[in-house]
Amino acid sequence: MLVIGNWKMNGFRRDGIDRARSLAQLMLRDSLYCKVLICPPSQLLGEIHNTLSDSKIIMGGQDCHSKEQGSYTGDISAKMLKDIGCEYVIVGHSERRHNYGDSDEIVASKAKAAHEAELNAVICIGESKEVYQQGKTIEHLSNQLQNSIPETATMKNTHIAYEPCWAIGSGLTPTTIEIKNTHKAIIEISRKKLLGEENQISVLYGGSVDDNNAGSILEIDEVGGVLVGGASLIAEKFWSICTSANHYSNR
Ligand code: PGA
Repeated sequence: MLVIGNWKMNGFRRDGIDRARSLAQLMLRDSLYCKVLICPPSQLLGEIHNTLSDSKIIMGGQDCHSKEQGSYTGDISAKMLKDIGCEYVIVGHSERRHNYGDSDEIVASKAKAAHEAELNAVICIGESKEVYQQGKTIEHLSNQLQNSIPETATMKNTHIAYEPCWAIGSGLTPTTIEIKNTHKAIIEISRKKLLGEENQISVLYGGSVDDNNAGSILEIDEVGGVLVGGASLIAEKFWSICTSANHYSNR
């Protein structure tokens, strides 16, 4: 089980460090065995790495560039994230796909860069409301999977995060049956077409996960964890989600 807190563009210095410190204290108190990963905005990575230095909580980036370094104003490379203490990076988040035009091919090149930098990649996929309403979710996700997963991916260095775009930040979620069936399909497609029959990739769910619905989502066998946005900004709420994940961790 992996629980990811995606802070997005939230967290001024004091708030971010205080939140990371509270989480580190909660981890010390509860000693959860599920994996807890926080992805703060880039400017906080150095200080948060120090704050978490004695903690089991790990840190990741929210995006990376596909190149190692160079003239790419405003970007950060996978190798830089690794250098500052990250273990993971999210790629292909729908906000990057929509606001910055990250195509499946770009997402695959970012995930490849992550692997080459020895980071684990969390590759996000998800359908729009329109695709969902047309009943074409699986077809859409299948295409995204085919084109967003690089040949460097293994079940060890890659997670898929299924995040329906219409569920992100909206308070809406698919039903638990829908999540189960979609995750099953993602696991099958990744196994058959991408990683080989013997590999079962871990698929996280994301989109309006909070402390009220986390239990019923994490209970689903095909759910390997959750990617949390809004609810990860309040330490106690996020911790309650981590505690639920811990409960289902040894199945
Ligand atoms: P949300 O965001 O939990 O606020 O819906 C999830 C995400 O964007 O990863």
